Amino acid sequence: MERTLAIVKPDAFAAGHAGRILARIYQEGFNVVGMKKLFLSEKQAAGFYHVHESKPFFDDLKGFMSSGPCLVMVLESDGAIRKWRDLMGATNPSDAGAGTLRKEFGTSLGRNAVHGSDAPETAAFEVGYFFSGLELL
Ligand code: CDP
Ligand code: MG
Repeated sequence: MERTLAIVKPDAFAAGHAGRILARIYQEGFNVVGMKKLFLSEKQAAGFYHVHESKPFFDDLKGFMSSGPCLVMVLESDGAIRKWRDLMGATNPSDAGAGTLRKEFGTSLGRNAVHGSDAPETAAFEVGYFFSGLELL
C-alpha cells in the first residue's frame, strides 16, 4: 500500500465541491487515513510549495493557497500516487481528460481544484508537513 497527499484547494472548497470530491475518492477505492480542514497562512503555504519558490507563479500560488480554507487528506491504496494524479487530471484544467476532477471542478491553471503528490519522496515530505504519525494510525 502507498500513501499520497491530496488537497481540495481553496477554490473548490469555497465552491462547496469537497463532498463530491470525497465521494469520488471513496468510489475509486482509496482509504482516507487522514483528513483535516486547514486555513493556511502565507508562510505555511510557501513552505508546502517550497520546490516552486523560484517560479514566476509562486506568489500567486502562495496567495491563492492561503486565501481560504482547504481540505487536506492522506489517501492510501495500491499505487496511490499515480492513481490520485490520474483522477485529478492534467495541471491545466483545459488539458485535463473527461471525468477528471480538474476537468470537472478546475477553472484555470492557477485555480485547479485539487493537489496531489508527484513522487514517493514528495509524498513523504507533504504527508509529514501536515500530519503526525499519531494522526495516521
Ligand atoms: O499541481 P501539479 O503537480 O499538477 O503542478 P505543479 O507544476 O507542481 O504546480 C503546482 C501548482 O502551481 C499547480 O497545481 C497550479 O495551480 C500552479 N501553477 C500555476 O499557477 N502556473 C503554472 N505555470 C504552473 C503551475
Ligand atoms: Mg506538483
